[in-house]
Formats: sequence, structure tokens, C-alpha cells
Amino acid sequence: MRQAGRYLPGYQAVRAKVSFLELCRRPDLSAEVSLEPVERFGVDGAIVFSDILVPLQAMGVDVHFDDGGPQIRTPVRSAADVARLELFDPHARTPWILETIATLRRTLPAETAVLGFCGAPWTLATYAVEGKMSKELVAVKTLLWREPDTMRALLGVLAESTVPYLVAQARAGASALQVFDTWASALGEDEWRAFARPALRTVFDGVRAALGKECPPLVLYSQGTGSYAEALRETGADAFSVDWRMPLGRWRERLGAPVQGNMDPTALFGTESSVRAAARRMLESARPFDGVAANLGHGVLVGTPPANVAAFVDEVKSFR
Ligand code: CP3
Repeated sequence: MRQAGRYLPGYQAVRAKVSFLELCRRPDLSAEVSLEPVERFGVDGAIVFSDILVPLQAMGVDVHFDDGGPQIRTPVRSAADVARLELFDPHARTPWILETIATLRRTLPAETAVLGFCGAPWTLATYAVEGKMSKELVAVKTLLWREPDTMRALLGVLAESTVPYLVAQARAGASALQVFDTWASALGEDEWRAFARPALRTVFDGVRAALGKECPPLVLYSQGTGSYAEALRETGADAFSVDWRMPLGRWRERLGAPVQGNMDPTALFGTESSVRAAARRMLESARPFDGVAANLGHGVLVGTPPANVAAFVDEVKSFR
């Protein structure tokens, strides 16, 4: 996640020429920045360059990206606002992400995975309602507590619009689809079960029903949900991308399903030897299991030394 980004010089050079959204809309440039980490570090997969907020824009929300992160000038705050959200045809409104996936699939060898993605309904709802990054998420949780039916309607339309978006990415050549629920961390278990979970279930069931035997693995990234890890299975995801708040092996055991993760992204700010030690500890904890993919527990942070990413990948590849 964010393996392409501002910590890489190639990405910075491209961003010096075009805005973030222009970059998302130019398949040649998106493919170029998606490929940089694969070429530079030899990772096993490329994640298509885009952002989880791109489909929100396609639904009629005025998303902007400036230096302080994403901004929505007129956030979704009422039932009337929710009613104005439009379902969209990804081929018409977001053709670039599909072209970028097709380009990556054509360019990379068959054994290199091409990952498509989207935001989870709850995480998209947090941005739609807050309008910007926020620590306490008071606006979106106010809506949840005061107008649960409006919140359900919002999550419902977000889930419904996500299904064709992911289906189109799979048909364009994505070898796995990952749904990012970063802000699951803001919900208690009961609220997660009542609001976030049914919307995720709609997404995974819908994609699987539409694609049938052609359906690639569906992966749920969720953050801050370790205390009720077992319940994540109820979303219907095939595999889980997990945070660093418990050892990877314990996640694997509790989920009883393939896992991806979970080194603390700040561990990459250590020394080369501390990076290697943290990577080994992660893999050692999961040694008894199959179905384990080495990754971070969240995105690569701005300012991460690329040499430490290289050390992480090298340590993982040489682990026996
Ligand atoms: O390599 C990849 O993973 C590329 C694609 C990708 C981006 N964002 C590019 C991006 C993916 C998978 C995401 C997911 C995303 N975006 C999430 C879910 C996962 C997570 O990170 O929690 C969320 C919540 C967003 C929303 C978002 N987009 C935020 C909060 C920000 C600002 C954060 C920041 O680092 O400034 C963005 C902007 C963004 N999306 C950047 C990148 C590389 C930085 C934009 C820039 O170039 O200035």
C-alpha cells in the first residue's frame, strides 16, 4: 500500500510535472509510477496507482487533493446529500484506472501480481462526511449516532457503486482486489458489526456473484480490528491484510485464512539491521503457517529511506 509514493524519487519527478488527480487520469504516468517499486525493489506485485477517493468523485462528490491531503468542499451530511450520490459506470467515469491495469498486465511478467483496489464503504463514508482527514471523526460518527438510517443509506450506495468498479478492475486484468478499511479503527466492535460489516459483505458477495469462477482473490485491509479478529471472516473476504498490533502468526491463526502484513511502517525508519530484525521477527511468528504474504501493516510513509525498503524486501526473500 502506497508502495508508489512521495518517498520515491521517480514518483516525485512525475508529481513535479502533474497534479495528483492528473496523475491518476494519465494511464501512461500511472503505470510508470506503479512499476517503479517493482523495478526498484523486486516486489512480487504492483498496485495500480490511483486513490480510494477517485470513485467518490465519480459519484458526484467534489474531491480535491492539495498539500494537506484530500479535501471535499461540500461534504455529505444529510439524507438529501446521500440521495444525490450517483451510481457510475467505471468504463465511462474512471476509464484510466482500467487502462492502467491493462497496461500493467501487458508489461509485467505473468508471475507478478497486479493489484486493483478500492476503499471500504465505511472508510469512504468517513471522507465523504468529514470532508478532510480528521483524527476524531466526530462528524461521521455524529451522523452514525443521530441518523443511523442515513448512515446505512450512505454505506449502501457506496457498497453498491463499488461492486461494478471492482468487477471492471478484475476484467481489466487485476489478479487480486483489495478493499481498504483504514478507518475501521474508529469503530467499536458493535458499531463495526452493525455498520461496516454488512456493507463489506455486500461488496464481496456482489463481486463474487458477478465474476463467478473468474473472481480473483478478494482481500480486506482493515486497521485496528485485532480485538475482534475472528469476526473479519464474516465479511466474506478470502484473505486479510492486517496491522502490526499483534504478531502476524497470531493473526493467521485467529483468522484461519491467508494473511498479508504486517510490519509497522515506522520500522522502516530504523537502521538497516533493525529493519532486517523486524522483518525476520514478523516471518518467524508466521513460520508454522502457509498462506502468508510479507508486507507492511499500512502504507509506506513519506520520508521512508528507500534503502530500508530494499533491505526489507531482501530480508524477506532470503528468509528460510
Ligand atoms: O502504491 C499505492 O498503494 C498506490 C495507490 C494508493 C494511494 N492511496 C496513492 C496516494 C492507494 C492504495 C491509496 C489508498 C488510500 N488513499 C487510502 C487507504 C489506505 C491508507 O493509506 O490508509 C486512504 C485512506 C486514502 C486517502 C488519501 N489519499 C489520503 C489520506 C491521502 C493523503 C495522505 C498523504 O500521504 O499525503 C491521499 C493522497 C495520496 N494517495 C498520495 C498517494 C501516493 C499522496 C499524494 C501526493 O502525491 O501528494
